[in-house]
Amino acid sequence: MPVINGDRLLRDLETLRTFGKCGNGVVRQSLSEVDMESRRWLVERMADAGLDARIDGIGTVFGRSRNPGKALLVGSHTDTQPTGGWLDGTLGVMYGLETVRAFAESRETRDLAVDVASWIDEEGTFFGLLGSKMFCGLVGEAELDGASDAGGRTLRAALRDAGLEGSFVERCVPDRYRAYMEAHIEQGPWLEEEKRRIGVVTGIVGIRSLSIRFEGQQNHAGTTPMARRRDAGAALVTFASRVHEVFASHAGPRSVWTIGTIRLEPGAASIIPGRAWLTLQFRDADEALMDRLGDLVEDLVRECNACGPVTVSIEPAKDRTAAALMDAGLQRYLEAAAERHAPGAWMAMPSAAVHDAQNLAQVLPSAMLFVPSKDGISHAFEEDTSREDIVLGCQVFADAVASILLEGT
Ligand code: GLV
Ligand code: MN
Ligand code: MN
Repeated sequence: MPVINGDRLLRDLETLRTFGKCGNGVVRQSLSEVDMESRRWLVERMADAGLDARIDGIGTVFGRSRNPGKALLVGSHTDTQPTGGWLDGTLGVMYGLETVRAFAESRETRDLAVDVASWIDEEGTFFGLLGSKMFCGLVGEAELDGASDAGGRTLRAALRDAGLEGSFVERCVPDRYRAYMEAHIEQGPWLEEEKRRIGVVTGIVGIRSLSIRFEGQQNHAGTTPMARRRDAGAALVTFASRVHEVFASHAGPRSVWTIGTIRLEPGAASIIPGRAWLTLQFRDADEALMDRLGDLVEDLVRECNACGPVTVSIEPAKDRTAAALMDAGLQRYLEAAAERHAPGAWMAMPSAAVHDAQNLAQVLPSAMLFVPSKDGISHAFEEDTSREDIVLGCQVFADAVASILLEGT
């Protein structure tokens, strides 16, 4: 079986961390200058490992094995949130790279084919899970035309500035692959809580994002009597509190919802806001339940419009990703490898974060491995995982990949 090199893995993770390092965290949003620098660095590391590597026309770094036979595809992402941790996504990409290097060093595995991908924009600077959706054929040109970042810069302009416009985009050829595998930090508290070092993911939640718009009348904050106001900000606050009430009484035990952004226009202390927006994101593994939650938001919009005096509307969803189950057969390989290297210290668990694997699961058998997140913190600069757990996770992952390719054809 392959033996991974923990020092080499940690060294490369630390080097990748320097691209956009900010305190303990990283700011490396997709297609930014520093993100592109890191992608070029990754292409070189993949080439050193013997892969045919390049950045494709959407920004994904793709390293293709030259070995014959069915390949296993490993991936995750190296872009970050606006205030990102150093391991969210990068861990899985570097596990892929280290797996390829370890395979090349063992007689038993050196002829096995493993491709590695760093999918662009998992974090949704322009369009959530963009690279894996493109690869799997789950996004259309019109959606790409409409995608822009929080400052209004379009995805098309960002691709042009990055020199990627018009380049070839990788697409999944399912016949090439035996499976897709992704490793990731847990980003939640459960492995630590249960004193386990490895999580074998059973399924991944779906995610819905809505933007709600409030249209009132901008006016003077001193001279306009309360009864005459059409205050978009006040309507937003009432709506937000109704969402929390209604969702709390209809959601499932694992449903989560977040009002993550609020914007008031023009946003000045002495002006009654004329327009306002909020984003509402909700997640659950049960698509039917999420449909019901979506219907409840529409009921609330009708309720607010009936009361007035502000007009409320739902803007088309920026993105939406379906929940997915992980492949049961692949989970058995991960469990066996976890039991070999960490007897009794692993558990099966669902993922409450979204991942590229849920897109890949629509076209290939797919599975995921988790390692613990210290204090359950992620999407924050404090995000961390013990070095021992990082190294253990990679060994378990490489072992499982080897078993799948050696036995599972
Ligand atoms: C992924 O980054 C998520 O928000 O779940
Ligand atoms: Mn993330
Ligand atoms: Mn991630």
